[in-house]
Parts: sequence; C-alpha cells; structure tokens
Amino acid sequence: MAEEAILGYLENHEEISDSGHFAAERGLDHSDIVNVIKSLYGFRFVDVQDIKRETWVLTDEGKKYAVEGSPEVQLFLAVPPEGSISKDELQKKLDPGVFKIGCSQAGKNKWVEMGKLILRKVQHVEDKVKDLLLQIQDGKAIGKEDINSLKARKLIVLQTWKGYSVKKGPNYAPKRKKPATDLTRENLQRGDWKELEFKEYNFSAKGPPAECGHLHPLNKVKDRLKDIFRQLNFEEMPTNRYVESSFWNFDVLFQPQQHPARDSHDTFFLKVPSTTRQLPEDYVERVKEVHESGGYGSRGYGYKWKIDEANKNLLRTHTTAISSRMLYALAQHAKVQPFTPKRYFSIDRVFRNEAVDRTHLAEFHQIEGLVCDRGLTLSHLIGVLEDFFSRLGMSKLRFKPAYNPYTEPSMEIFSYHEGFGKWVEIGNSGMFRPEMLRPMGFPEDISVIAWGLSLERPTMILYGIDNIRDLFGHKVDLSLMKKNPLCLIGIQ
Ligand code: PHE
Repeated sequence: MAEEAILGYLENHEEISDSGHFAAERGLDHSDIVNVIKSLYGFRFVDVQDIKRETWVLTDEGKKYAVEGSPEVQLFLAVPPEGSISKDELQKKLDPGVFKIGCSQAGKNKWVEMGKLILRKVQHVEDKVKDLLLQIQDGKAIGKEDINSLKARKLIVLQTWKGYSVKKGPNYAPKRKKPATDLTRENLQRGDWKELEFKEYNFSAKGPPAECGHLHPLNKVKDRLKDIFRQLNFEEMPTNRYVESSFWNFDVLFQPQQHPARDSHDTFFLKVPSTTRQLPEDYVERVKEVHESGGYGSRGYGYKWKIDEANKNLLRTHTTAISSRMLYALAQHAKVQPFTPKRYFSIDRVFRNEAVDRTHLAEFHQIEGLVCDRGLTLSHLIGVLEDFFSRLGMSKLRFKPAYNPYTEPSMEIFSYHEGFGKWVEIGNSGMFRPEMLRPMGFPEDISVIAWGLSLERPTMILYGIDNIRDLFGHKVDLSLMKKNPLCLIGIQ
C-alpha cells in the first residue's frame, strides 16, 4: 500500500517533498512510509534527502491537562460559585498535584482569593492552557509567549521530527518486482524460469540460532577441572551431604571450639535436627584429648572441649569436612590392610553466613585436592600445585605463608594474571597437621598435602564476569548460558 503510493506518485511527479505531509494526506502511518522509503532506497529505486523539523509535543502532564483541563481551572471549578471553602476541604476534592499547582496559578491569575477560606473573585474563567495544549496536539502553531509559558510549566517539549524528501532513483520502476527466492517445479514446467529474476545469495547471512540445551559456566569449568584431576590420577570423593556435624567440619580439623568461624555469624547451624546422631566414640576421645592437652609433640589448646559443641549440625562451610571423613576411613583401613597412597579430589557446594556482595555468596562451590602418602614435603605440595594450575593455564605461581588451624605450614596461592597485569589470590593450601592426622590413626610417617579454592573464582576470570551474582543465584540471566563461547583456551 505505502510502496504503491510512493512509486505511483513518483511516476507522475518530480518528487515527494515531505514524507510527513505525504503520509498525512493519504491517512498512512509515517513510520510505515519511512520503512518503505528505506527499503526502496536500499535498491536504488529512489533517492532521498533527510528532513528534520522541530515540533512541540505535549508531555504526559500536558496530555493530562488537555483532557481534564488545567489545574487552575479544575481548582476554580471546585470552589463554590457563592460562598467559600476551607483549604482542607478543597484539598480533599482534588489530586494533590492539581491542588498545589492550581492554587498557585489561580492565585496568580487573581481568580480566587487565597486566605484562610478560599473564594471566587471572578464569575467565569476560560481554560486558555487547555485550548493551547489542544492546538499543539493538532499540530497548529501558537504564539511565542504562549510557547514559553507552557514550556516553563513543562507541559510541552521540543521534539525532532525526521522524514525524507524522495525522488526517482537510478533503478526506479513504477512497480517493484519481487525477485524469486526459489526455483520451483512449476517454474520449470511452465518455462517461466527464463524470465524470472532471482534473488542473489547472501553468504554473510547468519543462520538461525540452534535450539538446544546449554551448560552453566560453572558446570563447564567443573567438568574441565574433573578432567585435570583425573589426568593426575585423583579419585573423586563422595560429597553428597550438605549437612555435617561440627565434629567433622571443625573439631577433627583441630579448629578450636571458640574459633570465630564457629559462630552463627559465620556458619549456618541447623535447627532440626540440631545435633548429630552418632560419632565414632574412641576417635571423639582422641580429638578431645588433642584439643585439650595435645599429644604427638603438640601442647594442644588447653581448654575444656565439649561434646555438645561437636554434635551441632551445620551446613558444611568447606569440603575439607569430606576430606576429614575420607582420611579417617583411610586411616582405619590402613590398620588392617597395607597402606596405599591416595589422591582425592572433590568439587561441590559449601555454605557460609556471609553478607552477599560482588565477590561473595552465602552458597558457593569449592574445589579441593589432597595427596596422602609417606614422606611428603612442602616441595611435593608446590610441585602438585604447579602441575595442577598449569593445566588451567596458570603457570606463574607464587606462594605466601598463611595460617589455617589444620595445616602447618600453610600457603596462599597467587597466580600472575596477564589480563589484569597483577598477582591474584587463587587458593589456599598446606600440609595437614599431626594434630589432625595422628588422632585419626595414621602413623607418624604419613603426611597429607592439600589445597582448596572456589570454583566461582576461576570461572569468573575465564568468562570475564565481575559480579558473582551474575554467575550464580536467582539474579542470573539465563541467556548467559546461551551466549557462552563453546570452548575457552587457557585461563588467562
Ligand atoms: N578449607 C580451606 C578453605 O576453606 C581450603 C583448604 C583446603 C586449605 C585444604 C588448606 C588445605 O579455604
């Protein structure tokens, strides 16, 4: 319709001087006309020139008054023709905005007397503001002073109108033939394929997006980490228990019962069931002993250890609770069978009572690895860490002495990030203390090297995400999964 109108008009006329007027005269939508002009221009059926016009249009407030009348007239009409009305009563009759503006304008116009009581000073008023607004709405021109006063009251704003003037282009034809996109059986039978104009192939057109499932970035990085651990001969630990007792989460790790991490400000404790059902009795005794008075060359902490504290159930704060259980089982096994060295890993969810911000969530994932063998040293730990992290693309590592209740020595792990141009902390590590291993039943010459890090950290670095809430939790935009690259090479 719009296309026929334009091409048809140009057949007999030199030009369409203004697409806006052209659309209005024919009762067509200007945006439709513009779309057709753009398309015709693309095929050089027409040549165009931009036209810009500034016009006044009503703001939302202006539109409201154009229908309901100006606030001053609304206010005037709400004052009884004879007698007076109190301010409160008048206020009840009108919208708060209308009342406020109405009072000031009607006062200024000397239509009403604004005392304790309000009364009319004139008999009749005209709604000039409404009339002016209606004129502008109809596209009529009004005087400069009126424009200025409506503008000052924010009832109108200047809007740039864009349109075109249109002339015949080099490929002009009174009708546009649609090029055929397919060669059909009928075309061949009829023989009209000889005259048909075919649409050219567009080799740079994008295909439709594939409709298929997508993995979350955390799952992709997790799979990659699992591969790395398996390449290094690590076995996965069963982490399918979010609820732990304080005993396995803290006590066996030689974390004293008054340690701040054991406070409800840092840890989610369970209300139901609030305590664990059973713990290995003789082991509990040895843990109690080591906390209270040490042993195996340690002096212990010298405080009264309480079973009630150890019995409290919580959402595990680290997967090291699982490592404790696994090592305990391994030590029991080693009592009856010859000891075999072990390499264990896990990647699963942990919980901390933290204030959520750009880098912290109350629920996140931990990656943990450990090696249990005879005669391990700090050099073994450094070697394993370098091997592990280099497979993630992080080959420049540095270590800083740190403190964990369950490791000695302990080291924070830093990696040089080429993109950020600085060293970033990526994990924590250490050698488990004799105070942890010996009560489990391990002989003196067996040691354990271990490390832990969050899964979110490397994933955010890999995927260039700087707010952890965009990665995990209820605020995640699901299209994140679709837009991810298929594969990523190197972590930096
Ligand atoms: N459990 C530690 C943490 O929560 C990580 C860690 C694991 C540290 C093993 C040392 C050894 O950060």
